[in-house]
Amino acid sequence: MKIVNVEDARRAARRRLPRIMFDYIDGGAFGEETLRANRRDFGQWTLRPRVLVDVSQRDLTTRFLGGEHALPFMLGPVGFLGLYAGRGEIAAARAAHEAGVPLCLSTFSIASLAELRAATASPLHFQLYVLSDRAIMDELIDQALAAGIETLHLTVDTAITSVRERDVRNGFRALTKVSPGLALRLLAKPGWCLDMLRTGAPRMGAMAHRPEFGTSVLEQAANVSRRIDTRLSWADVDWLRRRWPGRLVLKGILGAEDAVRSREAGADAIIVSNHGGRQLDGAPSTIAVLPEIVEAVDGGIEVLIDSGFRRGADIVKALALGASGVLLGRAYAYGLAAAGEAGVARIIRHLAEEVDITLGLMGLRSVGELKEKGSGVLRRGLRE
Ligand SMILES: Cc1cc2nc3c(=O)[nH]c(=O)nc-3n(C[C@H](O)[C@H](O)[C@H](O)COP(=O)(O)O)c2cc1C
Repeated sequence: MKIVNVEDARRAARRRLPRIMFDYIDGGAFGEETLRANRRDFGQWTLRPRVLVDVSQRDLTTRFLGGEHALPFMLGPVGFLGLYAGRGEIAAARAAHEAGVPLCLSTFSIASLAELRAATASPLHFQLYVLSDRAIMDELIDQALAAGIETLHLTVDTAITSVRERDVRNGFRALTKVSPGLALRLLAKPGWCLDMLRTGAPRMGAMAHRPEFGTSVLEQAANVSRRIDTRLSWADVDWLRRRWPGRLVLKGILGAEDAVRSREAGADAIIVSNHGGRQLDGAPSTIAVLPEIVEAVDGGIEVLIDSGFRRGADIVKALALGASGVLLGRAYAYGLAAAGEAGVARIIRHLAEEVDITLGLMGLRSVGELKEKGSGVLRRGLRE
């Protein structure tokens, strides 16, 4: 089947991946209320078309996180890309760089930062989970510095890992090794199995030299998750601010007070995120809280956003409401699972085209013009 939008890629990913893997990507926390709100609330805004404007020359170049990028979005941190397709992190980074946007590598990755750096030349960011053992943190930060990373994303909304009921049902949460039953279920997806066999037994790149974390990716992931620091506080952000010389981004801010506090803590940017509805179920959608956060920080800190972005119009709405850029999560993970590097490239191309056409039909020639006009290009109210 031809993939013409993110939903097509999602369906193709469901066909290609073992169910346990697809559900891990696709699912949200508890009743998945926030997961649904992330999509639904884009409908609270409609776009104002302007006609009879010469839009023959259009420009999607966007400034965010200190760089000029070809598109208004980048690929955010998604764990275990290398389990959705062979060498998945490298495939996604190549597709991102080909399109002129950065990728942020998750702490939970198969490829190490050094491997990814060796395989790609364009901007990479790194996402950090704070572990209770600060020696490991120090080491991760040193790995990032050695790889020439300029932007560090500190994820702040995962002090406790929430419950994703699909993962509980599939036995994903308690998984530390592949049981015979699971092996049989994995074999039901031979294309994925062959891809994995070709690339060899996966391991978490960042922990490869630490035998105490185990040898298989499942053991390593369980051990790292167990060590995520539940006492993480603003004092740690202060510590990290002193330790990290580059750009510091706090990922997972959902309210005006925390946004203002992030600015005081010396962060350079925040990502308004509810972790794609995977953490606090019942939390608001990010598009709903974006305007109050932008107003509260009043230009004092850069504001980006993720969670639920599947359409070009979603991206246009977020930029109009004051986000400097958007991060994709599942949208590109589905593309990767469906068709590797080509699948990620297709999703990026498709979203870029949607943004481009949407802007043109709104009588706007560039992302710069959209940002300048701001929320004036939107109309609040439910779609008919
Ligand atoms: C399968 C999966 C794994 C993720 N892993 C991480 C991670 O390791 N670190 C992190 O900060 N966020 C992680 N996220 C959250 C994403 O960075 C992002 O906040 C979220 O996917 C945005 O929502 P969307 O998928 O609806 O676009 C993950 C999301 C998914 C779907």
